[in-house]
Amino acid sequence: MSDLWERHAGWWQQEFTDGADPEYEEQILPLAVELTAGFARVLEVGTGEGQVARAIGSANTSMVIGIDPTTNQITEASRRGGVVAGYSQADAAALPFRSGAFDAVVTCLVLEHVPDVHQPISEMARVVRGGGRVVLLINHPLLQTPGSGWIDDHILDPPEQYWRVGPYLPEAETVEEVERGVHIRFFHRPLSHYVNAFAEHQLLIERMIEPRPPPGFVALAPEYPDAATIPRLLVLIGTKNLARHAQ
Ligand SMILES: C[S@@+](CC[C@H](N)C(=O)[O-])C[C@H]1O[C@@H](n2cnc3c(N)ncnc32)[C@H](O)[C@@H]1O
Repeated sequence: MSDLWERHAGWWQQEFTDGADPEYEEQILPLAVELTAGFARVLEVGTGEGQVARAIGSANTSMVIGIDPTTNQITEASRRGGVVAGYSQADAAALPFRSGAFDAVVTCLVLEHVPDVHQPISEMARVVRGGGRVVLLINHPLLQTPGSGWIDDHILDPPEQYWRVGPYLPEAETVEEVERGVHIRFFHRPLSHYVNAFAEHQLLIERMIEPRPPPGFVALAPEYPDAATIPRLLVLIGTKNLARHAQ
């Protein structure tokens, strides 16, 4: 599974990090910083080359650790450094930390690439202390399903433009060619799977955010302003039940 990430880590680093991507710069990194503010020990699961961990570490003065199973990501994360306490090569399904070790856990655009979400969410709930926070950022599982997209239909008169939603209920594994020669594996599952996994692992959802695509992203293509009423991102913020998981 992660061999595709090994092969395409360089593509990710070039296209989406170090200021290259307006969605990260204007929206994702500020959200990650805001939602982990005030938490001293933070774990980022699926850290990639570390941009989320670095942003949190420098803005919030938190002690941040990042894990990722992909050698080519973790090596680059270590090279880029920043005020991050450390990086480890590990999988979201088996976090190499004691229970309750962190005040907050964040995972950003990772769980849509893993075949099962229950074990990673169980692990995140285990390593966060009672009363601590789990922040999940994913591609919006309803509006960004495989087959979704902006339709400019000139067969009809007058032409019709709308956002098509692909099949929502069936779970689906797809390998998408996101750019010529770059294949990335995605797992679609309905939103209820994420919400129910939070509930099952005693993570009380405090808030859900569906942000409007930011201006820098909307400016990238002529059809994006029309599609700007459709969220690309979904954020779930959960608090670990204190009563049932007292440390
Ligand atoms: C889209 S990148 C996001 C990287 C980083 N979170 C960011 O926002 O810049 C997805 C990352 O998920 C990692 N990943 C894939 N499978 C994983 C797993 N089972 N456990 C943890 N991370 C995984 C990949 O190696 C890759 O670095």
